[in-house]
Amino acid sequence: MPDIRSTYTDSLRFYGNSTPRELADRFGTPLYVYSEAILRERCRDLMGLSAWDGFGVNYSVKANANPTLLQIIRSEGLVADAMSPGELAMDALGGFTSEEILYISNNNTPEEMLEALSHGVLISVDSLSQLDMLGGLNRGGGVMARFNPGIGAGHHAKVITAGKATKFGISPDRLDEVFALLKKHELTLAGINQHIGSLFMEPQGYLEAAKVLLRLAAGLPPEVLKNLKIIDFGGGFGIPYHKYEDEPRLDLAALGRGLHELISGWATETGYQGRFLVEPGRYVVAECGILLGRVTAVKENGGTRYVGTDIGFNVLMRPAMYDSFHDLEAYRGDGADAGEPVLQTVVGNICESGDILAKDRLLPPLRVGDVVGVLDAGAYGFSMASNYNQRYLPAEVLIGAGGAPRLIRRRETAEDLTRCLDGLVRKADA
Ligand code: LLP
Repeated sequence: MPDIRSTYTDSLRFYGNSTPRELADRFGTPLYVYSEAILRERCRDLMGLSAWDGFGVNYSVKANANPTLLQIIRSEGLVADAMSPGELAMDALGGFTSEEILYISNNNTPEEMLEALSHGVLISVDSLSQLDMLGGLNRGGGVMARFNPGIGAGHHAKVITAGKATKFGISPDRLDEVFALLKKHELTLAGINQHIGSLFMEPQGYLEAAKVLLRLAAGLPPEVLKNLKIIDFGGGFGIPYHKYEDEPRLDLAALGRGLHELISGWATETGYQGRFLVEPGRYVVAECGILLGRVTAVKENGGTRYVGTDIGFNVLMRPAMYDSFHDLEAYRGDGADAGEPVLQTVVGNICESGDILAKDRLLPPLRVGDVVGVLDAGAYGFSMASNYNQRYLPAEVLIGAGGAPRLIRRRETAEDLTRCLDGLVRKADA
């Protein structure tokens, strides 16, 4: 049966042995569906960036922390970051050992730092005051410091994490103060890191920023450089979200060539024996994930055709938060002609007028009961989902390498929503 719009996923056999409608019927909607084959391919792309011995990929778990996906990512040889005790717990379920985790923190409480230390992971701090706080808790230990290279990048002002206007990182001109704090607490600088922002499509800015970090490392006193074990250039690797317009991919081969040249040359020159890491989140998981939902209403309001679905911004926050574009597919499967495309605005089921998934899209007229697929939803989809309007977090399904679907997180229920209230709610007055 022909679907309304499915050439992209058809070409990849994305849904394995099932059709998206079967998955929606069997597991319910909204439903995150992941492809193991695509996830593994993306991991391998990144691991192949450089053949330098000390090169590695530090998957940024904030993009998607489902432990089953983490196990697959680990099996491909990646290590993982964490930035909260919750992410540490997920990393552990994913099988990552303390040596395989870097705690890349921001504004943590002393209790959170102590918890990270109890896991035996190396902590990166990104301010002088957090360095001082960590030193007080872990005298004589190792630490990483996050610097701001002064170069930012990203798809939206909200995700640019370096340059002038950002809360992140230590300015390199404060190095003397970093050294003073290291001395005060007898800390060893075990690593340095940065992250310029999320979603660049050209390699140049990233490579320029990498050079800045290497220059900073080269300027470290020899006794400090000698102890340095990790140089982490951060993530931000973009993916093409406009799948139906054949948007070009980030030239990973060019990025790999540039990076390899840079790190191999620099290590040879300086005698550095430690590791070089990149820290991508989105690139690893975005394209292996599709969010399935169902059309529940269609109406005309003020000249706009609104297609109501069960995909509210509590399930996928990106369009409402950053005006992000995600391509849509639609599945009907009754073999009938889909009809001439018309402009439609696809919305969710949340009580806010900003609950817009896709504005003014030219699609065949969608009908109640159609299943829609939101492409490239694997990164910052489930991980940013919330219980707003007291809606349940969705289920997640993995299409295994053999094509069979497997539930890897069940849908929440009312009991899950009320779990933290157990025994705390007084009986309401009659
Ligand atoms: N490392 C650090 C320190 C980060 O803060 C981030 C992302 C990454 C690595 C991974 O960046 P990626 O490779 O995924 O671009 N919610 C936004 C993206 C926020 C990114 C936050 N930090 C979105 O949906 O576009």
